[in-house]
Amino acid sequence: MSSRRSLSNLSVWLGTTLVGSLVELSNDRSVFEFDEEYAANSDRPVLSQSFFEADGSLDLEPVEKQMKLSPFFSNLLPEGALRKYVAERAEVKAVRDLPLLRLLGDDLPGAVVVRPEEDGPLIEEMEEAVSTTQPVRDVEPLRFSLAGVQMKLSAAGTPEKGLTIPAEGRGGHWILKLPSAMYPYVPENEHSMMRFAREVGIEVAETGLVPVEEIGRLPRGFLRHGENALWVKRFDRTDEGTRIHMEDFNQVYAQMPDAKYRNYSYGNMAEDLARIAGVEDVREFVRRLVFSAAIGNADMHLKNWTLIYPDGRTPKLSPAYDFVSTIAYLDDFGMALSVSKEKDVRKFDEDLLRRFAARVPVPEKVIFDAALETAEKIVRVWPSLQGDLTMEGKAVGLVSERIRAFPLTGRLLA
Ligand SMILES: Nc1ncnc2c1ncn2[C@@H]1O[C@H](COP(=O)(O)OP(=O)(O)O)[C@@H](O)[C@H]1O
Ligand SMILES: [Mg+2]
Repeated sequence: MSSRRSLSNLSVWLGTTLVGSLVELSNDRSVFEFDEEYAANSDRPVLSQSFFEADGSLDLEPVEKQMKLSPFFSNLLPEGALRKYVAERAEVKAVRDLPLLRLLGDDLPGAVVVRPEEDGPLIEEMEEAVSTTQPVRDVEPLRFSLAGVQMKLSAAGTPEKGLTIPAEGRGGHWILKLPSAMYPYVPENEHSMMRFAREVGIEVAETGLVPVEEIGRLPRGFLRHGENALWVKRFDRTDEGTRIHMEDFNQVYAQMPDAKYRNYSYGNMAEDLARIAGVEDVREFVRRLVFSAAIGNADMHLKNWTLIYPDGRTPKLSPAYDFVSTIAYLDDFGMALSVSKEKDVRKFDEDLLRRFAARVPVPEKVIFDAALETAEKIVRVWPSLQGDLTMEGKAVGLVSERIRAFPLTGRLLA
C-alpha cells in the first residue's frame, strides 16, 4: 500500500480512527483501500454495512473506479443542481467525484471525514467558532456536502435567534432546504408532512419554516423562489459539536447514486433491517412505509432511508426526513420502490401486506400491528390537523383523496 502513496492521497477518518485511503491513480482513476490497523481492530467503528462479508468479516478487496468514486463515497456527494452549483463555485468539474470529495471532505453526511493525508484527523470545532458575521461573498466555495437534489445549505445559529450561512461554507447543525421555482411550496408541504408524521407516532427530524429574507448571509446566487425555507435539525451532529455516523440504504447496497430507485424493494429493506437492526426498527419502517403511501409520497427511494450509528458500531434507523406529498406536483399512484413486486398504492392492501411480511424475519403480527395502527392514527389525526397546516389547500385536498384511495386507510373511511 505504501508504495503507491503520493501527496494527493486522501485519508478516510471516523473521528480519530484512520479507516483507509483513497489513492489517486493516473487517468482519473482512484482506489479505496482499508488501513491495516483498522482492518485488524476488532472494535473498529463501522464505515458501512456494504463492506461486511456474509460471515461478518471486513471485505478488504481494494475498489478501483474511474471518474466516479466507489459507491459508499460517491453517495456522500450532492446530486443535481446543488452539485452543479457547488462545483461551479469551487471551479471544479461537476462530473468528477474525487475533486468534489476533496473540497467537501471536512463536512460530509455522518461522521466520516476525508482529508489530505498530510493534514491528519479533523479536530472538531465548536459551533461558536464558525464565523457568521463576515459579509457575503458569492465567490467563496461552499464546503459542506449533503446528498439529494433540492437546493440546500448548511446553517449555524438557531431558529429562535436566527440561522446564518457560515462564512467558511461549512459547519452548522441545520439544513436549510430552499424553495424552488419548479415546485412551489415544497418547504410548506414538507414541514406539514413532517408534522403529520410526528402526530402519527413516527420519529422525525425536527423541522420548521423560516422566511428566506431572514436567513443570514444567504449567497446571492440562491434566487428567492418563494417566501419560506425549511430548516431541518441535523441528527448526525450533536450539540456538543461531535458527529454521529450514518449511511443511507443506497450505500448499504453499494449502489451508485443514480440507482436509488432500482434493484431493491421495500421487502429487501425490511428483511435487511430485521437482520441488522432488529424488530423495533422493522416496526418503525412499516409505519413510515404506510405513512408515505397514505400521503402520496412517491419519492421514498433508497437515499431517503438512513441507518445511524449512535455508538459508532450499532446501526438503527435514523429519524425520518424528506417526507413530501409529491402528488401535489406529479399526480400518480406510484411508489418509489415496490412492496411485494407492486408499486401501485391502490393495490397496497392487507393481502399485499401479508405477502410483504412473509419474507421479513419477524412475526407477521409485528408488521400487521404497525401497519394497521398507523393507518388508524392517520385517519384519526388528519381531519383536525389539516386545517392547521402551512401547505396549500389544494395539496391538503390531494392528501385527503389519497388517504381514501390507499386501501389500508380507505377501508377505515368506507
Ligand atoms: N435531519 C437530518 N440530519 C442529518 N442528515 C440529514 C437530515 N435530513 C436529511 N439528511 C441527509 O441529507 C440528504 C438530503 O436531504 P433530503 O431531505 O433527502 O433532501 P432532498 O429533498 O434534496 O432529497 C439525505 O439523503 C440525508 O442523507
Ligand atoms: Mg432526499
